[in-house]
Amino acid sequence: MRLLVTGGAGFIGSNYIRYALSAHPDCYIINLDRLTYAGNLENLKDIESSARYEFIKGDICDRKLLEDLEFDAILNFAAESHVDRSILDAAPFLQTNIAGTHTLLETARQRGCILVHVSTDEVYGSAEKGLFSENSPLLPNSPYAASKASSDLLVRAYVETHGVRAMITRCTNNYGPYQFPEKLIPLVILNAISGKPIPVYGDGMNVRDWIYVEDHCRAVDAVLHRGRAGEIYNVGSGNEMPNIELIRLLLGKIADELGMHEKDGLSGLITFVKDRKGHDRRYAIDPAKIERELGWRAETGFEDGITRTIRWYIDNRRWWERIISGEYMKYYDVQYGERLGR
Ligand code: NAD
Ligand code: DAU
Repeated sequence: MRLLVTGGAGFIGSNYIRYALSAHPDCYIINLDRLTYAGNLENLKDIESSARYEFIKGDICDRKLLEDLEFDAILNFAAESHVDRSILDAAPFLQTNIAGTHTLLETARQRGCILVHVSTDEVYGSAEKGLFSENSPLLPNSPYAASKASSDLLVRAYVETHGVRAMITRCTNNYGPYQFPEKLIPLVILNAISGKPIPVYGDGMNVRDWIYVEDHCRAVDAVLHRGRAGEIYNVGSGNEMPNIELIRLLLGKIADELGMHEKDGLSGLITFVKDRKGHDRRYAIDPAKIERELGWRAETGFEDGITRTIRWYIDNRRWWERIISGEYMKYYDVQYGERLGR
């Protein structure tokens, strides 16, 4: 099978490519990525010379480029993915997440090929209580979430109108190796290692459900190979935690890994700052459908996954030092300068 993986130089896409190349000896992967600030070919250094892999620098909005490529299925990981950036400027989110998905749908329609569209639990909005199912209403609260919900609706329309064989996954918060440092878990790890303040939005009681990235990759793969066309699959691990609890747990583990003692005071870095606008209080989904229909379930315990993740960031200093020394600091200053009183 020739797979077109879009956004394969990002966090989840690069983990997926590594997983698929090892799980399916017969698959060939074309990685199409625009290499935005979040795309990084170093994420794929270990597999870049594989005879079953090629990289193409390009935009998912480029219809002509897509017409020239040969593949049997599309896995769409490409997106603008960070909520805080969508609050600063929504325009790139509308372009890539909506117009880009539309281009991929037109391509899938023309080719008659399968499209797996990687979406998010954020399309359901905030879960005040209970769990969201695939039939829950779409109530997105951030420009990022609204752009993903819009793309999901386009997928639905192309399934209904044109019979495109598309499926949607909606996953909870991922963590693991190669996650860009703007996201909460790597941000906490890097700031703790560097002795920098750790910004906690609001009262720190917003709840997220954390899943190890490899488990998400296996879910996307299960949907590609065994999913029913036109269906939506929620993906989660039932590992809900308030942010402040997660941060304290992380700091304890980081101190252990670095051989530090409580007196070294990592918890003193915790700094409560002005809340994110429109901040969803809780995300929680019910993964019963994908478990029942496709036999998938999250396999990585949080303890194991988070220890592996912390060790990866400690061992891969060069990877993240390059990122935080460049453009990233300009974003960091805009996002956190005032919040941290600088
Ligand atoms: P990421 O920001 O790390 O990576 C996105 C990748 O897409 C980058 O390599 C970037 O260069 C590429 N890209 C952006 N615009 C593009 C364009 N126009 N054309 C081609 N490539 C483009 O994101 P991620 O965290 O890996 O998320 C991947 C997907 O999974 C996204 O669709 C996101 O909405 C979804 N998702 C993420 C999470 C999470 O916790 N990170 C959870 C659920 C769903
Ligand atoms: O739920 C899936 C979504 O998870 C994905 O669709 C998104 O692409 C992904 O970015 C993630 O969104 P969140 O907004 O939940 O993730 P983030 O890591 O940005 O924030 C997690 C929580 O931590 C959230 O409640 C906001 C809070 N936070 C975040 C940052 C960056 C802080 O308190 N301080 C911070 O500095």
